[in-house]
Amino acid sequence: MTKEIYLSGGCYWGTQHLFSLVDGVRETEVGFANGHTDSPTYEEVYTDTTGFAETVRVRYNPSVVNLDFLLACFFRSIDPFSLNRQGGDAGTRYRTGIYYTSEADLPEIEAAFSRVEKRLGGRPVTECGPLQNFFPAHEAHQDYLRKNPGGYCHIPLKTFTYVRLLQDLRYLLGDETDPVARMANAASLIRERTGWFWVGFYRVDGEQLVLGPFQGTPACQRIGYGKGVCGTAWERGETIVVPDVEQFPGHIACSNASRSEIVVPLRDGNEVRAVLDIDSTDLGTFDLTDALWLEAVAGTVYSAKA
Ligand code: SME
Repeated sequence: MTKEIYLSGGCYWGTQHLFSLVDGVRETEVGFANGHTDSPTYEEVYTDTTGFAETVRVRYNPSVVNLDFLLACFFRSIDPFSLNRQGGDAGTRYRTGIYYTSEADLPEIEAAFSRVEKRLGGRPVTECGPLQNFFPAHEAHQDYLRKNPGGYCHIPLKTFTYVRLLQDLRYLLGDETDPVARMANAASLIRERTGWFWVGFYRVDGEQLVLGPFQGTPACQRIGYGKGVCGTAWERGETIVVPDVEQFPGHIACSNASRSEIVVPLRDGNEVRAVLDIDSTDLGTFDLTDALWLEAVAGTVYSAKA
């Protein structure tokens, strides 16, 4: 069985590349959706008067990947609050949208909107509606970033690293139930794929965090509740991005080489069980893109079974 969904995420080159990296996606095709002319050319759509949006048709095997995962990847690749503009591209042809061909998909689509709203605190301006029409773009636009490595891409390139990392992590961890084993392999895979200076976990132990599996230089073994970046992320129950560790009051320096940092809680319902801590030797390494993908990574590492 093959299912399909049509996704507009700004310039279709980057969006197609993203979905081509998702296991279970059988085929992607770029084109123009939901306009009011017939068989538009790229040049016509470019005038921004045809009503079309640059769109990717994603055909997938629902027994390998579900719509939920596809939409989570989609929302992590766009600015859901930006109307008719993504990255450097502006115009209604670059609006974001989710267009379905089966109404049965609506509950999952609505759930994806709700999750974004809950996480980011606002309703996405992303359009949602039935697909009205779709015309494939010229062959030169298909698989553009594969044919032109290093070509223009409005999606941060680390997105492509994360989408593979997240899927590979799922296979690697499988149904292992030991949390230390899961954290150990997760720290290794993240470090291997990104090269970041320090990647590791601190586990909640009473009133303190205690050092868990990590990759990198020796680190502080215990951190109090509310202390440092890690203890603060635990206290707040939310991800903390620190562009410059010297600007974070109470930051605990385990190594002078660390200049920026991100800490992501691993939670069991409302309870924080551990945190994922990543340090970089550069300033400003992490942003909202990292936060959203690493929250998915943290969710994979901490499974309720483990
Ligand atoms: N910088 C962290 C301490 C842990 S190390 O970065 C490995 C903090 O302030 O909590």
